[in-house]
Amino acid sequence: MSEPEASKDWVNPLRDSRDKRLPRIAGPCALVIFGVTGDLARRKLMPAIYDLANRGLLPPGFALVGFARRDWRDQDFGTIVHDAVREHSRTPFREDVWDRLAEGIRFVQGSFDDADAFAKLASTLETLDKERGTSGNHGFYLAIPPNAFPLVLKQLSDAGLAQSEDGQWRRVVIEKPFGHDLSSARELNAVVNEVFPEDTVFRIDHYLGKETVQNILALRFANQLFDPIWNAHYVDHVQITMAEDIGLGGRAGYYDGIGAARDVIQNHLLQLLAFTAMEEPISFEPSELQAEKIKVLSATRLAEPLDETTARGQYAGGWQGGEQVCGLLDEDGFASDSTTETFAAITLEVDTRRWAGVPFYLRTGKRLGRRVTEIAVVFKRAPHLPFDQTMTEELGQNALVIRVQPDEGVTMRFGSKVPGSSMEVRDVNMDFSYGQAFTESSPEAYERLILDMLLGEPSLFPVNAEVELSWEILDPVIERWAASGKPEPYEAGTWGPPSADAMMTRTGREWRRP
Ligand code: BG6
Repeated sequence: MSEPEASKDWVNPLRDSRDKRLPRIAGPCALVIFGVTGDLARRKLMPAIYDLANRGLLPPGFALVGFARRDWRDQDFGTIVHDAVREHSRTPFREDVWDRLAEGIRFVQGSFDDADAFAKLASTLETLDKERGTSGNHGFYLAIPPNAFPLVLKQLSDAGLAQSEDGQWRRVVIEKPFGHDLSSARELNAVVNEVFPEDTVFRIDHYLGKETVQNILALRFANQLFDPIWNAHYVDHVQITMAEDIGLGGRAGYYDGIGAARDVIQNHLLQLLAFTAMEEPISFEPSELQAEKIKVLSATRLAEPLDETTARGQYAGGWQGGEQVCGLLDEDGFASDSTTETFAAITLEVDTRRWAGVPFYLRTGKRLGRRVTEIAVVFKRAPHLPFDQTMTEELGQNALVIRVQPDEGVTMRFGSKVPGSSMEVRDVNMDFSYGQAFTESSPEAYERLILDMLLGEPSLFPVNAEVELSWEILDPVIERWAASGKPEPYEAGTWGPPSADAMMTRTGREWRRP
């Protein structure tokens, strides 16, 4: 029987003996950014590109092309990039690195509905291909509002920019939100896939670019210590928290009507859940990793009844870090009767043999007590304690806490004897901290993700099916909240509304106060 065509290039990931530690440098290419006047481009994308150049991971002829309505020349755009790099890059500024990067910076002026501007973009790229050897390899980064996606995609297609010739590549990078519910996500995916085939679409979930998130896989699958207890026999529940102390001043245009669940639970927190709960992939090849994530997300659903298993809130005025801050309804641009939630908590169940009966609690909020993202795997109590009850009053449940940020690391909490003449037991922590264990600092999430995209390495980018499954999980609670009036207010600087505590105490548990 003859081999199917596609299998000729297939390398068995288990037998691939290349040394994966060697630095991976992107091949010749140009990156076009739409939305260069936005915050994301200035704070994250431009600095990340410089950091990659500084680490020697971009090809010598790399070109960066900005596309926007502003009346700029190449030099004006160069100054914008320069200032963004100076202000926000992770690695030190070096004139020689900057000069080399600046040689490849171009700007194309135009609006998204201007076909001539896209024709100009095409000729700019063609010139770059000749002058800088970018070889027809072009990435298009859509850091723009989602309602502009269809138009920009169509213009790229009409200008012949989405199609590549043999040996070249064309890729598109899409920033969230990927729709606002399942049906809009499906529509968006259909529009995207009409122009770019799925294997050329890179959806950014910047949490997957974080070292600490990738480390969940190392922790779980490189060690013998944790796997035997990583299941319903030993785990009581899992808490995934993404707390922020910032408010939403200046973000009304994006956030009002979107809310915390769509903003971060649908993407970042469900991805954290997938990494925590999935089975071991046979390798870290993209398709293997994605298959396991898809499997576990397919088995995940909201615990019912929603009135008891979820909570939502909206921050009111209060004190934070010694400063008096206003409530959401007084922030610029928010409707005075906005029902947008700034705090959301949900309970999920994962219907697999490994996790049957183990609740996964996810919560996120703005203007909370402090900025912290963590995954806490909380274990069952020991079945029997041969101590006098008074000796274990300060003994809680064992926990393994993956500290995603800040203070990146892992904490193990367990009981220990208090020094002295009695057998008193109290919780103590054992810590691993990135800062102490490693000398090298972690790359920014966007450095990793932009490099991976330029290399055509899709492991850390959620595929269409993951996005749709995540909406499928979340849609029922979003619909319920939309029909049930205003979210409950909570004071800025606290840990959310009383209903969030109630949803835990109802099950005899409590939220961690990180
Ligand atoms: C973004 C959300 O995806 O993540 C923001 O839209 C949030 O609302 C941000 O503030 C948090 O990112 P990080 O990396 O600072 O945790």
